[in-house]
Amino acid sequence: MKKRILVTGRLPQDIMTDLVKKHEADINIEDKPFAREKFLEGIRDKEGLLSMITDTVDEEALDRADHLKMIAQFGVGYNNIDVAAATRLGIPVSNTPGVLTDATAELAFALILAISRRLVEGDRMTREGRFRCWAPMLFLGREVTGKTLGVIGMGKIGKAVAQRARCFHMPVLYHNRKRMSESEEKELMAKYVDMKTLLSQSDFISLHVPLTKETRHLIGNKELSLMKPTAYLINASRGPVVDEMALLQALKKKKIGGAGLDVYENEPALTPGLAELDNVILLPHVGSGTLETRYRMASMAVENLIAGLSGKVPPNIVNPDVLSHRRL
Ligand code: DGY
Repeated sequence: MKKRILVTGRLPQDIMTDLVKKHEADINIEDKPFAREKFLEGIRDKEGLLSMITDTVDEEALDRADHLKMIAQFGVGYNNIDVAAATRLGIPVSNTPGVLTDATAELAFALILAISRRLVEGDRMTREGRFRCWAPMLFLGREVTGKTLGVIGMGKIGKAVAQRARCFHMPVLYHNRKRMSESEEKELMAKYVDMKTLLSQSDFISLHVPLTKETRHLIGNKELSLMKPTAYLINASRGPVVDEMALLQALKKKKIGGAGLDVYENEPALTPGLAELDNVILLPHVGSGTLETRYRMASMAVENLIAGLSGKVPPNIVNPDVLSHRRL
């Protein structure tokens, strides 16, 4: 039976064509989020929502969506959804874990290489005609091979980053809510340490935690002041994990070596002053942004959505408690 579905972002064409053929799908085909009122109006009569990180799926939105039976998030992170409210209202929520692990780890590693070898600065200089001649001490970066990598958050993506670090002979320190098994630590050559040790001993610190009450501003003044003056901070997780104003000051005063950022505290806005600095690389939240991965994410989100709307358990449900009282 055809379902009434709201899809808040443009997906690969064949997936959208299939959705429109089989369901009453209302799709936002512009590459920018629905305005709030349009979003609220859009979900009012819908049974299914395929949401993006740019949608605020809060209590207000859920209260207006009396027919909503399933929310399938396009992405692994779902901090934009009030999952507690959805659970209370009997609405299952799903995400797309696993399929974006490699792409996101690749991007974190690309930031590690790019910031330490000054790739963006070098590109800029060359394009602007400022590369006049080779010289032994010109435009030097810092080597990555053999340096210590600190991983904060050792979930799937953190582990994939640690795995890549092995190719660069980098000792790995990690901090996580739960310690890995001895065999996993051995396989990844990763040592569990407290935050203070990780911050003060790492040459690169890569963040891979979800955004929660506990991780908001996990990295602030105090943490930045523990870092080596040559160390780099990499964030491809969620912007608010870092106090961006504190980071700006640390970068400006050269208290740390630099930063590679894919996400921002008030995305897409940047803290004023950040874009003027040379010791930071700024990307537009493209951690999972490869053709292959975005296709897999779209297929997975649709699979979750249709399973949920058919009364089945969505394969990637994040609030299984809802199953005892789900809205059918
Ligand atoms: C994710 O999957 O969480 C990406 O950041 C897109 O939301």
